Amino acid sequence: MRLLIMGAPGAGKGTQAALIKEYFAIPHISTGDMFREAISKQTQIGKEAKKYIDKGDLVPDSVTIELVRERLLNEDCKNGFLLDGFPRTIAQAQALDGMLNRLEIKLDAVLNVDIDDEILIDRIVGRRTCSVCKESYHMTNKKPKVMGVCDVCGGKLIQRVDDTEETIKNRLHVYHQLTEPVLEYYFKQGLVKNVSGHGNIEEIFAKVTILLGGNE
Ligand code: AP5
Repeated sequence: MRLLIMGAPGAGKGTQAALIKEYFAIPHISTGDMFREAISKQTQIGKEAKKYIDKGDLVPDSVTIELVRERLLNEDCKNGFLLDGFPRTIAQAQALDGMLNRLEIKLDAVLNVDIDDEILIDRIVGRRTCSVCKESYHMTNKKPKVMGVCDVCGGKLIQRVDDTEETIKNRLHVYHQLTEPVLEYYFKQGLVKNVSGHGNIEEIFAKVTILLGGNE
């Protein structure tokens, strides 16, 4: 299964991707996570990416495309993958086409998590992430058992630096300007499967598995 998951910031891509990864036994490749790891390790890419991410802007295509190109060559992508947060521009989508052509593979589907902008701000502002294992929580929708502490590994929960209300507004603007056209690009290829991002996480996942041809 070779999939893309798309949707506005906070739509629930990462949340659904974690479930899809387990269900279909494919690697979850999130460019946002890759950049955050590079930032925490203070690599050259991380230092470059931080300048853009902190403001809610996109990291330049040249940097992002190279990161994904290398990642898709990994052994664990041989039997499929789930790309989350890439492509986000038409140039990235065209570059991905080139990579897939060279590997002689095709995408099976582009899953679009569709949700109204008003709900997104609450979801993003309330998000907390484990500083150790990266498990995601929400202050009201998906609370940890003990506030501030990860249920899975006991790590400290933190808020992402780009999860402020001001930055979110710019991320949404960037999404509508640059990433919605990518959805149209795949829509014309007949690859898009829409799922509503409203409702609880399990209900949405049940719809996702049906859309992707699973058994639930
Ligand atoms: P990235 O990490 O990709 O962030 P994003 O697209 O803004 O998406 P989010 O991670 O904020 O949201 P999500 O949809 O995954 O929602 P989640 O499941 O966490 O990118 C960050 C930055 O990196 C970009 O701004 C850019 O600078 C850079 N970047 C990344 N890729 C790039 C690229 N290709 N090119 C250039 N730059 C790039 O859910 C959100 C919250 O809601 C959570 O708290 C969750 O618990 C909760 N929640 C989820 N589902 C539900 C539900 N059904 N009901 C109630 N609550 C829910």
